[in-house]
Amino acid sequence: MGKIRKVKVKVEDLVLVFGKQKKEALKLLNEGCSKKEILAKTGCTIGINKANFEIFEGEFFVIMGLSGSGKSTLLRCLNRLNEPTSGKVFINGEDITRKNNKDLLEVRRTEMSMVFQKFGLLPHHTVLSNAAFGLELRGEERETRESKAQQALDTVGLNGFEQQLPSQLSGGMQQRVGLARALANDPEVLLMDEAFSALDPLIKTEMQDQLLELQDNLQKTIIFITHDLDEAIKLGDRIAIMRDGVIEQIGTAEDILTNPASDYVKAFVEKVDRKSIISAGSLMFEKPTVVRFKKDGPEGALRKMRSTGIEILPVVDAHETFLGFVHISEVIQSAKRKELTVESIIHTNVPTVSKEVTVEEMLPLISEIRSPIAVVNNDNRLLGIVTQTSLIIEATKYNEEEIIELKEKANK
Ligand SMILES: Nc1ncnc2c1ncn2[C@@H]1O[C@H](COP(=O)(O)OP(=O)(O)OP(=O)(O)O)[C@@H](O)[C@H]1O
Ligand SMILES: [Mg+2]
Repeated sequence: MGKIRKVKVKVEDLVLVFGKQKKEALKLLNEGCSKKEILAKTGCTIGINKANFEIFEGEFFVIMGLSGSGKSTLLRCLNRLNEPTSGKVFINGEDITRKNNKDLLEVRRTEMSMVFQKFGLLPHHTVLSNAAFGLELRGEERETRESKAQQALDTVGLNGFEQQLPSQLSGGMQQRVGLARALANDPEVLLMDEAFSALDPLIKTEMQDQLLELQDNLQKTIIFITHDLDEAIKLGDRIAIMRDGVIEQIGTAEDILTNPASDYVKAFVEKVDRKSIISAGSLMFEKPTVVRFKKDGPEGALRKMRSTGIEILPVVDAHETFLGFVHISEVIQSAKRKELTVESIIHTNVPTVSKEVTVEEMLPLISEIRSPIAVVNNDNRLLGIVTQTSLIIEATKYNEEEIIELKEKANK
């Protein structure tokens, strides 16, 4: 966050038409015809419909969407396994749609590697030779390629299996050979098309963890297609959701959940456990009414409570640093005692959270405290307030029984 990020992949007005009458299809598309109409009129399928986006270096970018929505087509446009009909694809600032075949091959071999769902392994070659296959295509010497392949196999935890044949490995292990092959090329960008979909859940989790670790260590840019929303959320820095060749929305899981661009997107993310995604930052009330420690004595605090109808207010100093909360009954007492500041009645021993903390992580705080939760930045400046009610409602998705249970806990 805050650091300058380099654009690794940039896609501009990308259109891909399958079929013979591409020109006619493009014309109809520009006139606003739907994918269905264009298919009926020209026999052409719109694979990608005017995609525009950027992917940053080191980003984990996930593509989701129903079957046939264009995910694989989009991915394959990035290395021109599918030839874009119009538009541009920049890799490191260079438009690869304009490259000749030789330069394109170079890009595919050095900058981008693809990992497929069906592994794509050579059945009669050893694991080592499979992992070295990309390098062999590149024309690397045996020694060099085998040492690089060995390194990649070590990375994915297949040390010791070099001389086995793919058929002697489990599905998960075969998938790792596929991944090792891609890694051996040492590409800057990894393209992964449902690479983990065929794995059973336990192995899938293991592979996901391994990939995240890899990503962390090697800072690859990863573009990853999946049908699995949990997987998308776990892995993706951002998620793109596609429909009928159109990218309907791109954002973090939280962006998409809190602000879905369409009913399609909404339906897509409906089943997600929001608790683990929605953060204090999106739940908080910004610019809450505050009691200013030096300026507002108990009288001032009381006036603010009266005018807002809020019985518990946060107290900040002149630098907006959060000091604690004051409660109305104690403010009244303090005013009666004619105290000049609210010092004697501030509840200072209250938990604060940063913007990134999730609803799930805040929930345990409910039974501990009698006040809202203060959201603060690194310098303990007050950013906003999460009220108990909003927290409870978000946590329970309006499930009444759960709301009552949590309310009781909160009132104890
Ligand atoms: N070679 C092809 N020729 C003609 N049409 C194609 C071809 N490949 C894909 N399509 C069409 O392009 C659209 C997008 O297909 P694509 O394979 O990209 O979908 P997808 O989102 O990857 O689906 P899935 O989740 O099933 O893999 C579909 O309507 C499909 O029928
Ligand atoms: Mg696909």
